[in-house]
Amino acid sequence: MRGIAKIALLAGLGLAAGLMPVLAQSRPDPMRMSAMPGAAPSPDDPMQALRTPDPGEGDGPAASEEFGGLPDAPGAEDTYYQCVACHSTEIIKQQRITDARWDDLWQWMVEEQGMYEPDAETKQVILTYLKTHFSSEL
Ligand code: HEC
Repeated sequence: MRGIAKIALLAGLGLAAGLMPVLAQSRPDPMRMSAMPGAAPSPDDPMQALRTPDPGEGDGPAASEEFGGLPDAPGAEDTYYQCVACHSTEIIKQQRITDARWDDLWQWMVEEQGMYEPDAETKQVILTYLKTHFSSEL
């Protein structure tokens, strides 16, 4: 009798132990949302704002991977193909210069470096793009 009771007890413990992980999982875990990568965004998650940067926010358009990290905005593509023939986009991205300086640089690139000059419309698109995103003026 005692032996059987002991076995039953052990079996019961074993069963309980086997159930433990299941029970643990179904218990609401306050850290579970944040611990699970890719968890559905929850309005209860106080860190949500930090985890998912809103692409619509921040200053200026996001960098375009396709066009050498130039800000993804109208003119990025024209600028990219016009300028990377001779140097990387880095030389553009580090500039904070005046509109007049951009006009001068364009002239310099054409006259001294032999830059191919596109049609007037494309030139305008590129210069407007440069003056909009890489300007020292407000
Ligand atoms: C035909 C070749 C050529 C093309 C095309 C070209 N550049 Fe340049 N660019 C140069 C050379 C050469 C330099 C000098 C590089 C150096 O100093 O290492 C230069 C320098 C620059 C500089 C740095 C100027 C400074 O003050 O140091 C900027 C900014 C620049 N280019 C912007 C542009 C932009 C924007 C375009 C496209 C509209 C462009 N470049 C297209 C040849 C070119």
